[in-house]
Amino acid sequence: MRIYKAKNYDEMSRQAANVISAQVIMKPNCVLGLATGSSPLGTYKQLIDWNNKGDLDFSGVKTVNLDEYKGLTKENDQSYYYFMYNNLFKHINIDLKNTNIPDGTEPDSAIECARYNRVIDDIGGIDLQLLGIGHNGHIGFNEPDSEFAKMTHCVDLTESTIEANKRFFASIDDVPRQAYTMGIKTIMQAKKILLIASGADKARILREALCGPVTPQVPASILQLHNDVIVVADEAAMAEF
Ligand code: F6R
Repeated sequence: MRIYKAKNYDEMSRQAANVISAQVIMKPNCVLGLATGSSPLGTYKQLIDWNNKGDLDFSGVKTVNLDEYKGLTKENDQSYYYFMYNNLFKHINIDLKNTNIPDGTEPDSAIECARYNRVIDDIGGIDLQLLGIGHNGHIGFNEPDSEFAKMTHCVDLTESTIEANKRFFASIDDVPRQAYTMGIKTIMQAKKILLIASGADKARILREALCGPVTPQVPASILQLHNDVIVVADEAAMAEF
């Protein structure tokens, strides 16, 4: 595991974008695993900038996203499809046919999870998986549990996640209760993993995940067992190292 300390969010974003762009340059038809949330926004802005300047070409790149709320359409501004389209895909020269996100509108979890596992298999696995980390150590929507969930599955969101997410919705009743997420085994099968973290509120969990025991109670702790992980975190998130 290589850990890079950045001064602040902007530097973290540039360094993370450097790792992604190196991957795209080395393998123009690579598969990128992508995340949503506030952590990767600056990284995506940097990638957009390089793409618009003609320095980075996404025309051969394929993507698979980690997760999606169950029940939300692509048009819903809280869906992860909407996030990816508006914060990355529409700004770069990627072929939308090469982008994949779990389909939140498929009501049958077994059908959607099997479909998404097939998508990842057919695409040949993930070259570089970008991850953020939740305050409880979640990666994707893999919440603390008694065991590591392996493949794509449907999760019941915890009350605390629903509570945390309600600020984005008109009322708490609109917050989705379930989500589809890539499983831990699929994440661990990525050839390379890039974990980014910013802010003092991530300091405790980052230390626990990277230096504490490997346990499904801290899902990100499994990354200690992967042989090619790059962590880029800013000073505030690295405060406990
Ligand atoms: C997002 C995802 C989540 C986030 C995590 C951190 O697709 O899978 O695991 O990476 O919740 O979120 P932020 O970056 O908003 O702190």
